[in-house]
Amino acid sequence: MRLIIYTGKGGTGKTVISCSTAIKLAEKKYNTLIISSDPAHTLNDAFQLQSTITRNRNDNNAIDVFPCLQVLQIDPTLEMNTRYREVISYIASMFSSKGIDEVLAYEIAMMPGMIQLFSLLKVEEVIRLRSHDVVVLDMPASGEALRYLYFPKLVGKIGNRVTSLLGAFSGFTEIFQAFSGISIPNKILRYEKDLFNSLNQLSDIIKDNSITTLRLVANPDSFSIENAKRAFMAASLYGINTDLAIINKIFPYKDSEVKSDEFYTNWTKFQHVKVREAKSNFYPLPIREVPLHSTELAGIEMLRANADIIFGDDDPSMIFYTGKPYSVIDQPPKNLKISVKVPFTQKQDYDIKRLGSEVIIKLDSPTGYLVNVIPLPTITFDMKMIGTRLRNNTLNVLFRRPD
Ligand SMILES: Nc1ncnc2c1ncn2[C@@H]1O[C@H](COP(=O)(O)OP(=O)(O)OP(=O)(O)O)[C@@H](O)[C@H]1O
Ligand SMILES: [Mg+2]
Repeated sequence: MRLIIYTGKGGTGKTVISCSTAIKLAEKKYNTLIISSDPAHTLNDAFQLQSTITRNRNDNNAIDVFPCLQVLQIDPTLEMNTRYREVISYIASMFSSKGIDEVLAYEIAMMPGMIQLFSLLKVEEVIRLRSHDVVVLDMPASGEALRYLYFPKLVGKIGNRVTSLLGAFSGFTEIFQAFSGISIPNKILRYEKDLFNSLNQLSDIIKDNSITTLRLVANPDSFSIENAKRAFMAASLYGINTDLAIINKIFPYKDSEVKSDEFYTNWTKFQHVKVREAKSNFYPLPIREVPLHSTELAGIEMLRANADIIFGDDDPSMIFYTGKPYSVIDQPPKNLKISVKVPFTQKQDYDIKRLGSEVIIKLDSPTGYLVNVIPLPTITFDMKMIGTRLRNNTLNVLFRRPD
């Protein structure tokens, strides 16, 4: 049993890479399910389902694409309306009992975070039923995707109450304290029990490194690389194993072609640097590079060819890397140490400085500067960076708590 989760900035290619992965898995005879909760129904577009595939819905509402491959497009609003309607109504009624307009109360109760969470509960259901060998989860674009994945664990710690669930999501915990005196009806308690059982199960699945791995998708540009790097750091802190990074949409580079076109030459040179930077930033993850194809990537044939570029002869269900590349070590009473694996050693020349929530390392390499970004966890925001040390491919950054 495997759960493979693709994450990355919007438009980087998560959906098409999820589809490519799923096709290759199915061809290797794994019973594969690809799940997406993207409201835009992009799985249908990617597989070009409308035109080529006869829809054949089973109990799960999954659609057969071809033998061993099913597609499940979750409609989170429908999911919530059919399965958790009473919980939502209950939350909304708490708001309206405090004088908030009922229409608005429902909008608040259906926050985006909640929608993601309910999609994940569907994943838990599918995995519990053990109907498939591999589940590929195409996460919608969100800087917060990881928070949803970690969320079940968090909820387990703060208490099994719908109010705490909502509070933790919105960051409005203080507001919810006003409601804490309200007694919870029995039927809601029953829902709560099921809901929190599912969340705990989901938490166990996601943190089980032999089942779940996260894969990063980025393009050769600074924004998507930084976004993925942050997800990589958060996953590592949360104990979720990241096993692969895919750099997608790289301009094909051929010396003979580009010399005549300055615009193209500039872009390919820029991307060349970004790919090197990505390799350094995602170290020690294995990296796969995927070119920008000459047309939009869609349809089963193109997705299959794309899978061969990504995986070659490898089995996409394998775990490509296991490790904890990022760790935070408390050194009481005053200090905190952050250790990050980096692809360079003490022999090289590097320049390090903190910029808000990141540490930027500039490395002098024979082909120019290389930038490595180390995202900092929230706990360091009011701490002072007091020193760095590079040893055996590990960069240690020391922070001091405020007096
Ligand atoms: N290597 C590629 N070559 C050509 N087109 C590509 C490539 N990768 C992705 N695309 C195209 O880029 C667009 C975005 O891809 P996709 O929908 O997979 O991204 P996404 O990360 O899932 O986006 P979102 O964040 O909106 O969910 C699609 O039109 C897709 O066909
Ligand atoms: Mg998508």
